[in-house]
Amino acid sequence: MKVAVIGSGYVGLVVGACLAETGNDVVCADIDAGKVARLNQGEVPIYEPGLEDLIEKNLDQRRIRFTTDVVEAVKASEIIFIAVGTPPDEDGSADLQHVLAVAAAIGEAMESEKIVITKSTVPVGTARLVRREIESRTEIPVHVCSNPEFLKEGAAVDDFMKPDRVVLGVDSEYAAERLRELYEPFVRTSSAILFMDVPSAEITKYAANAMLATRISFMNAIAQLCEKTGADVDSVRKGVGTDGRIGPSFLFPGVGYGGSCFPKDVKALVRTMGELGADASILQAVEDVNEKQKRLLLRRVVERFGEDLSGKTFAVWGLAFKPNTDDMREAPSLFTIEGLLERGGAVVAHDPVAMEEAREHHFGDRIRYVETYYDALADADALIIHTEWLEYRRPDFERMRAALGHPVVFDGRNLYDPRRMKAAGFEYHSVGRPTLG
Ligand SMILES: NC(=O)c1ccc[n+]([C@@H]2O[C@H](COP(=O)([O-])OP(=O)(O)OC[C@H]3O[C@@H](n4cnc5c(N)ncnc54)[C@H](O)[C@@H]3O)[C@@H](O)[C@H]2O)c1
Repeated sequence: MKVAVIGSGYVGLVVGACLAETGNDVVCADIDAGKVARLNQGEVPIYEPGLEDLIEKNLDQRRIRFTTDVVEAVKASEIIFIAVGTPPDEDGSADLQHVLAVAAAIGEAMESEKIVITKSTVPVGTARLVRREIESRTEIPVHVCSNPEFLKEGAAVDDFMKPDRVVLGVDSEYAAERLRELYEPFVRTSSAILFMDVPSAEITKYAANAMLATRISFMNAIAQLCEKTGADVDSVRKGVGTDGRIGPSFLFPGVGYGGSCFPKDVKALVRTMGELGADASILQAVEDVNEKQKRLLLRRVVERFGEDLSGKTFAVWGLAFKPNTDDMREAPSLFTIEGLLERGGAVVAHDPVAMEEAREHHFGDRIRYVETYYDALADADALIIHTEWLEYRRPDFERMRAALGHPVVFDGRNLYDPRRMKAAGFEYHSVGRPTLG
């Protein structure tokens, strides 16, 4: 099939590469000329395991190409995915300007019947707006469908190739059949294609993200209770998560959820529900807990060292909002590091892949970056951990203690056993567990 994917970010690139891999003829369009030039050289501007190989292979086979010409991409394709960003507007609602600009461009460019699919996460009712933009510019029939994306950054290629389910909100039998054909290679074993009406598909995406965010904030609230009572949230988590009705996922306490999706999607859902007169108080609470949780490590550091941090140096392990990605959008590390710098502290940071992102888009030379995570520790007053990268999980504790100026660790991901840390000579602060040492 001839497919266009408009927007070559995390989602657009994965969708484009995976659809090319199953034999489709894919053109990816983006307005960022620099990005497109790099992609055409086989250089992938984001870190996502497996993606670069997939793109290189499909470029070689000429099944994927990249262009800045949205009009040409639309003309060349029967199926068009809109995968541009939907960042939060000032009032928290999803900013649809990019989605609607693409819809307008599709309307202008259409020369034959098309199936247009919103892949971007968009509020319920957006497909209707997309249709209006297109139909006000052309008489040619268009199908407007919703196909929310559930991939996780860090495992995005795998998630797209082997989805738990594919949700398709369709407006016609014809669109349903064409999209079934497109997705069949990905659901050959156990997963299902769930066909539904378009508004239900639009809501499904927000409901799924809001549910996951709720579980995280819920456990962070329970962690606070554990801290106040001397209980251990890890025991509580296991006790709760082994209940088959609840399950273990997304119950880890920590420094709150970040990234490009949960924070903005919860905000946007609260906004949509408010506008339509639905009660969003549960989700407002989820967001309030998270706002506080993102600042937890900074609060702990200030409680321990005082408001004036001048003359103090902090080692930071982990900048990305989660492992296996260089994405730092809404990462908890941003809140801690800005707070440390504002109070006069110095920061030496390590992340296996996000240091370039941190330097280019967030901190420039205001913090120091080091090659190996042990290098960050040299004479530091404390170590602060934000991201549960595998390589931070079993470090050489003796080497750590010897390198640190003061053996103080603030662990926002509960990577280590508090008793073991105490025995190894650390003062160890974690989340929802007793502070030892
Ligand atoms: N990142 C994720 O994990 C994830 C997962 C599921 C869904 N989503 C949703 O998918 C959408 C895209 O997210 P992302 O993380 O890929 O965003 P991104 O910011 O990484 O990429 C968006 C791309 O769209 C391009 N763009 C903007 N306006 C354009 C236009 N008019 N024409 C062509 N290209 C244009 C930008 O240059 C950019 O390259 C969002 O709605 C997001 O909520 C993201």
